[in-house]
Amino acid sequence: MVVFLKTCLPKAKVICTLGRMTETGFGIDIGGSGIKGARVNLKTGEFIDDRIKIATPKPATPEAVAEVVAEIISQADWDGPVGITLPSVVREQIALSAANIDKSWIGTDVHELFDRHLGGREITVLNDADAAGIAEATFGDPVAREGASILLTLGTGIGSAFLIDGQLFPNTELGHMIVDGEEAEHLASAAVKENNDLSWKKWSKRLNKVLKEYEKLFSPSVFIIGGGISRKHEKWLPLLDIETAVVPAQLRNRAGIVGAAMAVNKHLAP
Ligand code: BGC
Repeated sequence: MVVFLKTCLPKAKVICTLGRMTETGFGIDIGGSGIKGARVNLKTGEFIDDRIKIATPKPATPEAVAEVVAEIISQADWDGPVGITLPSVVREQIALSAANIDKSWIGTDVHELFDRHLGGREITVLNDADAAGIAEATFGDPVAREGASILLTLGTGIGSAFLIDGQLFPNTELGHMIVDGEEAEHLASAAVKENNDLSWKKWSKRLNKVLKEYEKLFSPSVFIIGGGISRKHEKWLPLLDIETAVVPAQLRNRAGIVGAAMAVNKHLAP
């Protein structure tokens, strides 16, 4: 079923004179090691077929990454709208930061880039944690739809999404907040645990410190923790000692792709 909508964000650089809202979408999640894409059932948040994954090119320049994105779209034989995540601040479809990606992304008009490679379709690019937040708010734990929740993705860096009754406040970048003289993501990302071979006890102490700082400043109703490490939550969740409730995210590694597909479908373009 295809429902046509006439609504569109005024500033969004998207092709949306007559937006399309379908039950199937396509999301692409650009990460440091892999670029992943899948068709998404927008009613259930499930993938429709197998996820396609191609290694992130090195160096991961905008042009090289866009070529891989085009390859995934072509392999999937998808001709509809595409939502794309980036581990970067994205405002008015311009990438404004590059903490864990090639610095040449800074200042890139990401809509122009992907439009050139994917041609003539609706495209939305957004921050990866923001995409995960949108997906969790719709398909994950109901706590993400109530009150002021903060979703954190713990991976190479720390990504964040602020959700107020399930609505997103984009580009919050809590991973770069200074905690104890260090950027939070240098203290407690999943990569830091792995690279330094930290025990669950040592790493959760660091995470606790970071969460306490966020708690002090934002007083959220809940922290929702995503990223691969959320799969092992029984190892570290019981070791945390903060006032705020902490729950693991539910969509796991699906969240970025699902959120990207939802964002373009809803014509959200931060
Ligand atoms: C980036 C964020 C991103 C996070 C998770 C951070 O280093 O600055 O934009 O959301 O990593 O990938």
